[in-house]
Amino acid sequence: SSGRVVVVGSANVDLVVDVPRLPGGGETILGGQLRRSPGGKGANQAVAAARAGGADTTFVGAVGADESGDLLVGSLEWAGVRTDLVDRVEAATGTALITVSPDGENTIVVAPGANTHVEVGAAQANRIAAADVVLAQLEIPVDVVQAAAAARRPGALMALNAAPSRDLPADLWDALDLLIVNEHEAADLAAVPGAPDAAARALLRRVPAVIVTLGGDGCLVAERDREPVRVPAIRVEAVDTTGAGDTFCGVLAAGLARGLALPDAARVASAAAAVAVTRPGTHTAVPTADEIGALETVSGTTSEP
Ligand code: RIB
Ligand code: NA
Repeated sequence: SSGRVVVVGSANVDLVVDVPRLPGGGETILGGQLRRSPGGKGANQAVAAARAGGADTTFVGAVGADESGDLLVGSLEWAGVRTDLVDRVEAATGTALITVSPDGENTIVVAPGANTHVEVGAAQANRIAAADVVLAQLEIPVDVVQAAAAARRPGALMALNAAPSRDLPADLWDALDLLIVNEHEAADLAAVPGAPDAAARALLRRVPAVIVTLGGDGCLVAERDREPVRVPAIRVEAVDTTGAGDTFCGVLAAGLARGLALPDAARVASAAAAVAVTRPGTHTAVPTADEIGALETVSGTTSEP
């Protein structure tokens, strides 16, 4: 079976400007044309789980009763995500202000708006209880993430992409099966500066499995009582890295939901993220499963069973 994924998280409209270089504090710079596209870490991950990962995916989130909310619901539906648990609330849809430099790097500021109203009520808890994998991020209130973790059935996997990073309550640490972080978030959460290996080792004391994403260098998969596995990245020309981490998380969740081992799911997720950075935007950058398969075959990264 394809596996069931519930993503609990944020949905934002992304306002994106290409800039010659990322601005510093107090600086004004001129950029290119304004682009407006559907995004938000939660919605991005749900799109990736459904479109690239082929999972039966539900998004639990909240948007405004505004045109931006329509844009997000429309985009989620285009990708095949179930949207019956996306609440329309009396607040503006979340908005992200994004700058993208010529080498594809970015800065992001989020005005959360409707995302502060996400709830895990009875209907959401029921859907979560039927999921194989529950995936959350930190652009929604942390107690909502805790409620989602509490609603899952025994044996289902609770994964957290700790982005943007912040302190986590002890109860939430105890409820996590998998933590997905980039190098900065890993160092923050582990309070260990420097090498991702050291941070991953420190984090394994709190959670049974950790993935540290390393951008163009792939990712590190660390599980308790196993040798860490380094998954290399497929070399690509980066156009826009916005949401690449989200593509990784969503495809990873879909792979785990259909029973792949963590390193194998990470290989497929890494290939999907490589495609996503070659395209502008987030939802629209997510490849289909066929496109990922073609890339894995070309670059010879398909893992042996
Ligand atoms: O991870 C990328 C996402 O972060 C963007 O789509 C933006 O909305 C913010 O949530
Ligand atoms: Na992209």
